[in-house]
Amino acid sequence: MLLLAAQAPRAGEFVWQLPDGIAPPPAPADNPITAEKVALGRALFADTRLSINDRTSCATCHVAEREFTDGLPRAVGTLGDRHPRNTPTLWNAGYYVSLTWRDAGLTTLEAQLRIPLTSTSPVEMGYTDALLPRLAADAVLGGLHQQAFGDTPMSLDTLVKALASYVRTLVRMDSPFDRYLLYDERTGVSDRAKAGLKLFFSERLACSHCHAGPHLSGPVHEPGKDVPPVFHRTAVSDTADPMRAPSLRLISRTAPYMHDGSLPDLSAVLDFYEAGGGLNAEHLQAFTLTSDERQALLAFLELL
Ligand code: HEC
Ligand code: HEC
Repeated sequence: MLLLAAQAPRAGEFVWQLPDGIAPPPAPADNPITAEKVALGRALFADTRLSINDRTSCATCHVAEREFTDGLPRAVGTLGDRHPRNTPTLWNAGYYVSLTWRDAGLTTLEAQLRIPLTSTSPVEMGYTDALLPRLAADAVLGGLHQQAFGDTPMSLDTLVKALASYVRTLVRMDSPFDRYLLYDERTGVSDRAKAGLKLFFSERLACSHCHAGPHLSGPVHEPGKDVPPVFHRTAVSDTADPMRAPSLRLISRTAPYMHDGSLPDLSAVLDFYEAGGGLNAEHLQAFTLTSDERQALLAFLELL
């Protein structure tokens, strides 16, 4: 009993459960993570009363069972507006130095997630402060807010701080690939997938030139360093705008692919890269995969 008491978390402390050697994602100085903010953020994430017509929560587009995506090529807002972009997974979002597909200026979750709440073109949730009195009067939300923020009144700022704290806790690093790399655990990693891993990191395919680091993604925060965002013109659908290389974690479960959801499956993604990307793509070289190599690469992507 004494031991349990000694190990019990202090009030306010959020207890991370991360693999050895993995640091939690950083939080801004004005929004340190606490267990209470995370609890409030978790409740808000699934609450449709944050939308203008009570129909849409964060979880409507970021569906947990779909690894926080929605399965649509492009998201649909609460009033039926078609979003220009595909809904990305939220796993590990707290680690990226820039958020969304191509916005260099969105560097914190706090800044990013004001957009789905308040954007008007397209309307995603249509949140306005007129919704606050009803949220604040709710016994459950009101109680959680009191625990998280004391007597500070509920506002867009406190909602955003709680939601960002919750999203920051969505860390997932327990795939067969992680267990192979971190603990040399070989069960679940077939010879075919190992051949795919070699291809992924080969100079011929060069996937890892852009999808790198612990999340096979664009740049992530590194302690004590100011890491700049990076974007690449792969020219999906001949788009001229450079995009962030997204993480490839859980990639086999988050179809359809690319910023506009234009590629239905991973085989179509490999066709795209074999052809050297779209019109005017930069830093992509065409290559040809044998059918064995294609199977190997797909087996590797399924491990992530
Ligand atoms: C209508 C669907 C929709 C709703 C509702 C929605 N999102 Fe998103 N979310 C998206 C889309 C689409 C993007 C990509 C935006 C872009 O690239 O411009 C995105 C991007 C994000 C990102 C960036 C992830 C990354 O890897 O860069 C975060 C974090 C996020 N949303 C959190 C939230 C939270 C929290 C809420 C609720 C307050 C929310 N979203 C509500 C569709 C939605
Ligand atoms: C020059 C940089 C670059 C290289 C090289 C590269 N990628 Fe990408 N990758 C990107 C960018 C940028 C995107 C997003 C493009 C978009 O949506 O318009 C992307 C998107 C993807 C996606 C879709 C992710 C999602 O969530 O929709 C997959 C899968 C993928 N890449 C796999 C690969 C594989 C496999 C290789 C090697 C054959 C590779 N990439 C090589 C930059 C690159």
